[in-house]
Amino acid sequence: MNRIGVLTSGGDTPGMNAAIRAVVKAARVNNINVMGITKGYSGLIEGRVAEMHRSDVNDIVGDGGTILKTARSKEFKTEEGQAKALQVLKAFDIDGLVVIGGDGSYKGAKALWDKGFPTIGLPGTIDNDLAYTDYTIGFNTAVSGVVGEIRKIRDTMESHERIGVIEVMGNKCGDIALFSGIAGGAEHILVPEVPFDIDSICDHLVHDRIRSKFTSIIMISEGAGKGESLANYIHAKTSLDVKAIVLGYIQRGGTPTADDRVLASRLGVRAVQLLMEGSYGRVVGVRDNKVVDDDIAEALAMKPKFDRKLYDMSETLSSI
Ligand code: F6P
Repeated sequence: MNRIGVLTSGGDTPGMNAAIRAVVKAARVNNINVMGITKGYSGLIEGRVAEMHRSDVNDIVGDGGTILKTARSKEFKTEEGQAKALQVLKAFDIDGLVVIGGDGSYKGAKALWDKGFPTIGLPGTIDNDLAYTDYTIGFNTAVSGVVGEIRKIRDTMESHERIGVIEVMGNKCGDIALFSGIAGGAEHILVPEVPFDIDSICDHLVHDRIRSKFTSIIMISEGAGKGESLANYIHAKTSLDVKAIVLGYIQRGGTPTADDRVLASRLGVRAVQLLMEGSYGRVVGVRDNKVVDDDIAEALAMKPKFDRKLYDMSETLSSI
C-alpha cells in the first residue's frame, strides 16, 4: 500500500473527524500517502480527490461534522457509477479505500471489493444499527445530546403539567430512543423492534393523573412512528395536554464525546493496519470493548442486534 483514499458517506456523525484524523496519522506514520475524497461516493465519481497532509488533521479530533463532507449517492448504486469510481481510484493511483459510514456506505464498499478493489469500512452512524459492532461512532454523542434535551423538555413539561412526546432518529433501530430514554428517565419508550399498544399507554397516563403524576416523557424512535401523530392520538383519546418535539438534526451535530473520539481513533488506526496487512473487504468494530474486524458481506448479512433484555429492563423502571 503506497497510497490510500478515505471518504465519509451517508448521514454525518460526531466522531467522523476523529476517525479521519486517525486514518491520516496511522498512514503517514507508515509512509503511506492519503488522498481525501470530498463528499462521499458522489465526490469520488466526480474526482474530488486531494492529498491530505498531517497538518490537515490538526485539532479536529473534537470537531463535529466531517471535514471531508458527505453525501448519499444514487449514481454510485449503478454499475456505471461504480465503473466511474474505479476509474478515478485508478487515475489517482489509490491502492485501498477507507469508507466511514453506515450500512448504505458499507454496501458501496462491498460493491467495490466485489470488483476487486481493496476497501475497509468504519462504522460511522448515530443509529447504532450495524449488527456486527456493539457501538458505532457517533451513537454515544447522539445519546448524550438527547439526554440533555430530555432534561430541558421535562422542565417545561413539568411547569405546565404536560406530556412530552420526543421523536428521535433511528429509522430501523430504536437504540437512540432506548438508551436516551433510560438515561433520561423516560416513562415510555417506543421502538420499531418491539410492538406497542398506544391505548394502554393512554390508560397509563390517565391513571398517572389519578395518582398525582402529571408529567411524562414518551420517547419515540422515528422508525416506530411520527411523534406528532402519537401526540394527537393521545390528546384525542385522553384530553391531556400533549406536545410533540422532533429533535431532528441536532442529534447529528456537535462535539463528539470522549467515548466516540476514542472509538473513532481505535478503529481508524485498525483500518490502516488491515490495509497494510493485506486484509481487505473487511469492516472494523468493537465487541466486548475489543477491536474486531469482520468480512464485509458477513457483517452486512448479520441479523439486527436489538437488546431486548435492556428494553425489558426499561419497562420495569417505567412501569410504576
Ligand atoms: O442514518 C442516520 C440518520 O440520521 C437516520 O437516523 C435518519 O433517518 C437519516 O439519517 C436522515 O437522513 P438525511 O440526512 O438524509 O435526512
